[in-house]
Amino acid sequence: MDLNGRSILLAVSGGVAAYKAAELCRLLVKEGASVQVVLTAAAARFVGAATFQALSGRPVVTDLWESPVADGMPHIGLTRAADLIVVAPATADVLGKAANGIADDLLSTLLLASNKPVLFAPAMNREMWAHPATQRNVARLREDGALISGPAAGEQACGEVGEGRLVEPEDLLQDIVAALQPKVLAGRRVLVTAGPTFEPIDPVRGLTNRSSGKMGYAVARAAREAGAQVVLVSGPTALATPHGVQRVDVETAQQMFDAVMAHIAQSDVFVAVAAVADWRPAQTLPHKLKKQEGQHAPALELAPNPDILASVAALPDAPFCVGFAAESDKLIEHAAAKRARKGVPLLLANLGPQTFGRDDNALELFDSSGHRPLGRGSKIDLARRLIAEIAARLPASPAGDGGSTG
Ligand code: CTP
Repeated sequence: MDLNGRSILLAVSGGVAAYKAAELCRLLVKEGASVQVVLTAAAARFVGAATFQALSGRPVVTDLWESPVADGMPHIGLTRAADLIVVAPATADVLGKAANGIADDLLSTLLLASNKPVLFAPAMNREMWAHPATQRNVARLREDGALISGPAAGEQACGEVGEGRLVEPEDLLQDIVAALQPKVLAGRRVLVTAGPTFEPIDPVRGLTNRSSGKMGYAVARAAREAGAQVVLVSGPTALATPHGVQRVDVETAQQMFDAVMAHIAQSDVFVAVAAVADWRPAQTLPHKLKKQEGQHAPALELAPNPDILASVAALPDAPFCVGFAAESDKLIEHAAAKRARKGVPLLLANLGPQTFGRDDNALELFDSSGHRPLGRGSKIDLARRLIAEIAARLPASPAGDGGSTG
């Protein structure tokens, strides 16, 4: 659980998107967080305190003067107990007050009294969002160190279409988890490959493998949590794109090679997690291969695919390269040889193809000084550990902001 032992102060202000904050509250609790909900008077008109009380398991605080807090100073006590304050949805009014230091109700007072990081998830009509006053307020909040998640674009409750929707609760959860991760890759650009490749034989058949893409997606997510700008070049998978990650979909190894080369000059780090097919059918038939009575099974002639990782590592201005290896036997020997052959400083070896599709994994880390276990755990935990190993090996950090989660 990503939020075990964490305390989140979830402040809900008065917009129709307040109903989505109830789902966010449930997700936060499910991830292990203790959640204290604060409702503004307007929010309480959209969703009742009883809903949040049931979901968070705690009394909801709505009023500066009539709070269940013993010392009668909820604006101090609540923020001191929190690791992170999340304002979702954040109305134009709340953003304006927070940007200008106005403190005239419980939420605005606790934001001013807060000594904790604050993440605002704006939600409002698209014209209100685009208004120079709102944009000025958001820019000022960013300067003050606040995190801004969204807003998303799409159909609005008012019937208009545009930017101003609350970021979906699942995505907001990812931003909240990210806000609590160390920003060891702030200002860095990371390119990741993930998933299998699919090499067509004819319009309906092809060669592929059992990679689910989970490890590569976890690496992309962990890099983004660490403050990097992330491009994920993905073979066919059934996975959702990690929030805030730019995804480029490809099918074949050649397409993956081309997409990687198109982005490589803008990358500081390249992590090759994809299970790239080493060979493809020498010819792709334009029509479905039909079987005929009495005919022998057709032979499939194969041609080699480019080695993406080795090609990137051999570039004159190569980024920091990380490879993965799935070995079925002689793990240590084969993985060490693979690291040398591909010319990469860091290589991670999976225990074997049996980890495909699973949510957990065990990885051994190989670098110039030998090898050691990175550990065993969920793929996202291992990905976070890997990101820390990569960050520790990069040359001194460029000036990075890492201030936005949007
Ligand atoms: N890789 C790549 N392009 C390829 C093949 C592999 O970029 N055409 C990358 C993978 O993403 C992984 C690493 O190279 O990071 C090792 O992949 P793996 O399949 O284990 O190695 P192979 O080079 O295919 O060697 P072998 O199949 O002989 O074990």
